[in-house]
Amino acid sequence: MSAERFLDFNSKESSQRLLSPEDMQFFCEAIAKRAGIWLKPSKLELVQTRLRSRLMALSLESYEDYREHLKSISKDDPEWEAFTNLLTTNKTDFFREPAHFDFLIREILPKWLATNQSTFKVWSAASSTGEEAFTLAMILSRSLPPGRDFKILGTDIDTSVVAAASNAVYSQIKLPEIPLDYHADCIQKGRGQAQGWFRIRPELKEKVLFKPHNLMDRTAPGENVFDLVLCRNVLIYFAPETIEFVQKKIFSTVKPGGHLFIGHSESFQGFAHHWKGVAPSIFKKGS
Ligand SMILES: C[S@@+](CC[C@H](N)C(=O)[O-])C[C@H]1O[C@@H](n2cnc3c(N)ncnc32)[C@H](O)[C@@H]1O
Repeated sequence: MSAERFLDFNSKESSQRLLSPEDMQFFCEAIAKRAGIWLKPSKLELVQTRLRSRLMALSLESYEDYREHLKSISKDDPEWEAFTNLLTTNKTDFFREPAHFDFLIREILPKWLATNQSTFKVWSAASSTGEEAFTLAMILSRSLPPGRDFKILGTDIDTSVVAAASNAVYSQIKLPEIPLDYHADCIQKGRGQAQGWFRIRPELKEKVLFKPHNLMDRTAPGENVFDLVLCRNVLIYFAPETIEFVQKKIFSTVKPGGHLFIGHSESFQGFAHHWKGVAPSIFKKGS
């Protein structure tokens, strides 16, 4: 093959593997409809990179072929799950936004302990790979006296992160996120083949259940059941009407007197709601 033809071939290859504005519009509308996630046109390169693996897996030549493929399948086809999993952003850390956990220890738990309830129930609604839910487990296992227990539900639309969270094994690169004084009671470092990894201790892991759940669904994991819900760093991806729907749905799941934490960069400003703001990004149901 001449150098000229080689260049030609390459440019044909690469142009097929570029996302056109029409493809981008289709993928953006599809993820907004399924997950409520709004991607700006400026995210074109991100979408292109994230979806590339589906072209390979399905032996498709171009993003247009992938678009046609998605159009041709039913809404229950597993390909939609793969598509959704690739377009979510799962960044999370142990002890992320620590002011929330200080508030839990200082304000919420002492009041809850003064009641006669036996199990403190929490929902981590957009739990990603589980760091948020296990941070709560570490804090609650340390803060609750004998006879008082806790249960945590972690949910996420992305089935791959739900599977990772259920596994409760993390790279030791993440160890510095966990304050040293929690290490002995809460984690076990791997040896041999598990070198470089740590796991959450089984006594903590068994109190946390992870399940797939789409916040856009009409169904909720219960009514008036949770003492605390965390819905952090997911509302930023949603349109105002989705935020309004999600906060209402969460409100119905929280016990009177229970709390909601949202991300520090998120807010309910401009929405009609029934929460009482009690601290930055912290809301209470009722007085
Ligand atoms: C940036 S992570 C935040 C994780 C954690 N809450 C934190 O603050 O560290 C956002 C998570 O929201 C999830 N997500 C996005 N849209 C969702 C939806 N419609 N329903 C449930 N989870 C969703 C994503 O899959 C992702 O794991």
